[in-house]
Amino acid sequence: MSQTPPDANARSFRHALGCFPTGVAVITTTDAQGQPVGLTCNSFSSVSLEPPLVLWSLRNNSKSIDIFRKTEQFAINVLSHRQDDISGRFASSSKSMAEKFDGVATSRGWGGTPVLDDCIANFQCSVYARHEAGDHVVFIGQVEAFEQSSPEDALVFYKGAYMMLAQSLRALALKDNAAERDLIQARAAVLGSLVRLAAVAARQEDFDAIEQNLRVLDRHAEEGDMVHRAEAAIVFFKQLTAAAHNDMLTVVAQSLTTMLEHTVSHQVAHAQAHAIYLPALTPLRWRVLEGMKARDPDAAADAMARYFALVAASRAQAELSPA
Ligand SMILES: Cc1cc2nc3c(=O)[nH]c(=O)nc-3n(C[C@H](O)[C@H](O)[C@H](O)COP(=O)(O)O)c2cc1C
Repeated sequence: MSQTPPDANARSFRHALGCFPTGVAVITTTDAQGQPVGLTCNSFSSVSLEPPLVLWSLRNNSKSIDIFRKTEQFAINVLSHRQDDISGRFASSSKSMAEKFDGVATSRGWGGTPVLDDCIANFQCSVYARHEAGDHVVFIGQVEAFEQSSPEDALVFYKGAYMMLAQSLRALALKDNAAERDLIQARAAVLGSLVRLAAVAARQEDFDAIEQNLRVLDRHAEEGDMVHRAEAAIVFFKQLTAAAHNDMLTVVAQSLTTMLEHTVSHQVAHAQAHAIYLPALTPLRWRVLEGMKARDPDAAADAMARYFALVAASRAQAELSPA
């Protein structure tokens, strides 16, 4: 196992952290005007039984950081596997707090903190300690009241995706070829949106990482190393996802990529790595990158659409003439 210092590669550090599955919670409090505030969090953890302490951490550049630095109480609302929509909504930077809470039933908990109804558990806390820790603040809460209100399974976040979603998509894909068509269509739609966003939001370091990986991918293809070529093709999608810098779409795209990884590892295990190699996709990957670098969302999305049209046509052909 190779050893990489965490600061050498922030993205691989995040990926390594993602190997640890967590639940998902919405942290709620009120601002100075008494209005509800909330955000999605998976850094929640238990700390102590006596006294009952829990913790979570918030990044310094969150729009809510000042409110949480000042508040004396917060609640941790643990989400069920049916509440991935709530997780996405409360993770969205572009939504106002009023939009986040719109239509979400809440009650007043300890100290007047809003508590989300319909969660599987909540912990209503007074602030026990705040610790500056790198680019995050760690909040330790003393649990003043808690409820466990539903026997439902928790929403699980793993490798950047909701596990229930990834599992059900995988089951769908394994079912039959029609589901594979749906998957290609879904990936085309999501990746189309992602590259449009990335054309606007990507940073130079995103472009550099994508370019470096595409060179690796092309070299593997030239050398006939189809297993590593297939791996680099998956990295390409992960990098496009990261380059869009949009938390909500990241979750959807990661789930679809996780599924693709299952399919590809199945094909690699069955020595079909050559069968899934389409040389015509190579220039299209580069064109996606060029479109993004030119800050031209239409050009990037057009190349991505051509990419998936080719993939779909090739899969339809394979169905007609199975190997
Ligand atoms: C599953 C999931 C877990 C998250 N966990 C955390 C977390 O523990 N700490 C954090 O600061 N942000 C976390 N986020 C991101 C915030 O929810 C998101 O940045 C925030 O709500 C919106 O940004 P804002 O605070 O700038 O408005 C998570 C997002 C998701 C989708």
